[in-house]
Amino acid sequence: MEIKDNQYQIQGVSLTRLAKDYGTPLYVYDGEKILNQVKKLQDAFSTVKLKIKYATKALSNINILKLMKKAGTGVDAVSIEEVKLCMHAGFEPHEIMYTPNSVSFEEIQEAENLGVMINIDNIPMLEHFGTYYGNKVPVCIRLNPHILAGGNAKISVGHIDSKFGISILQLKHVHKVINAYDLNVIGLHVHTGSDILDAEVFLKGAEILFDAAREFKGLKFLDFGGGFKVAYKKGDIATDIKEVGNKVSKAFREFCVEYGSDLEIWFEPGKFLVSESGYLLVKVNIVKSTPASTFVGVDSGLNHLIRPMMYDAYHDVVNISKLDGPERVYTIVGYICETDTIAADRKLREVQEGDIIAIKNAGAYGISMSSNYNSRLRPAEVLILNGKAQLIRERETFDDILRHQVEIDL
Ligand code: LLP
Repeated sequence: MEIKDNQYQIQGVSLTRLAKDYGTPLYVYDGEKILNQVKKLQDAFSTVKLKIKYATKALSNINILKLMKKAGTGVDAVSIEEVKLCMHAGFEPHEIMYTPNSVSFEEIQEAENLGVMINIDNIPMLEHFGTYYGNKVPVCIRLNPHILAGGNAKISVGHIDSKFGISILQLKHVHKVINAYDLNVIGLHVHTGSDILDAEVFLKGAEILFDAAREFKGLKFLDFGGGFKVAYKKGDIATDIKEVGNKVSKAFREFCVEYGSDLEIWFEPGKFLVSESGYLLVKVNIVKSTPASTFVGVDSGLNHLIRPMMYDAYHDVVNISKLDGPERVYTIVGYICETDTIAADRKLREVQEGDIIAIKNAGAYGISMSSNYNSRLRPAEVLILNGKAQLIRERETFDDILRHQVEIDL
């Protein structure tokens, strides 16, 4: 988002104009930014056989999926519905990595029928898989490396208390199952968390995965999951993707030589690819002073962007209706009948009713985690690509709130 011609613009498209044309609340995505992020990652890992599996859950609009496909990525899907969405968007089954957890074997069978790569996250399921498919269907195993990584407790998933993956300490057991069922394991996977800053954490994960991989014959890929940290505010440190690329690629190349095979390296970024591309545009309904704060009440809330309330996430906010003038301190809150602070004690250009506030970093886990709480409608989505804004999801209507409710005689 930059200021041009007296307006905040993305690729020459005015954001306040979009708010007028499509109404608010409105999710807006900068398609060029997404393509740039894909390119950055591809460049950082240009010396190894990289496969990017975009984490669908971050932002699953089919047009975003199509954009990823165009940019040359595959996808990571965590539910059978995401698998179907990705196929609908044009991904071939072999481009889809399916990493479910706590699902029934029926769902795994459905995924197998669709022909996607299945990543198994527990030993009982590995046994079911073996009983049913033996060595006929290649499979990947999700390991839990017991690393504490990630921005906060809710998004750290590689530690010993986490429900995800098969403990690295259970490898012996895993091998017994593999041998008993003659399983065809072609990939190993770890995902340790989200908002991981440090290249060293990825290296540590890599070393653990290499150690495990030495015990497997016939591997075709190692998957390091997602988790690169992006900047949420000015001065925030983000994962240095070049540094991670250099260090991990070097370690990976050395491992491939030792292993005797030119393996593929997979990553499953969500935030890195789409977080910064997204803006949630909301309108100011009320400016209200209390003894402690000046609240700016907007036409959105935790129903549309739950990250601030769920993870204490920081999202930058800008009053895009004001290009200059004095700043004041405000707390931006939603219209939900619960405490739903979007941004506390922030300096913004003086806010008035009707102003449009842009909430930044809203691309990842924004609309994909939204709900109809308080029976509110979900926002529309717009994608800006090649300097042109296009609607990619209609705003919900009251009919959507009633849809699927069954009225019975009482
Ligand atoms: N791969 C797997 C297996 C995952 O579980 C996840 C995220 C990713 C890849 C992508 O992680 P990313 O690159 O986006 O950090 N809703 C939270 C983040 C939860 C992530 C869950 N799994 C948030 O808004 O911070």
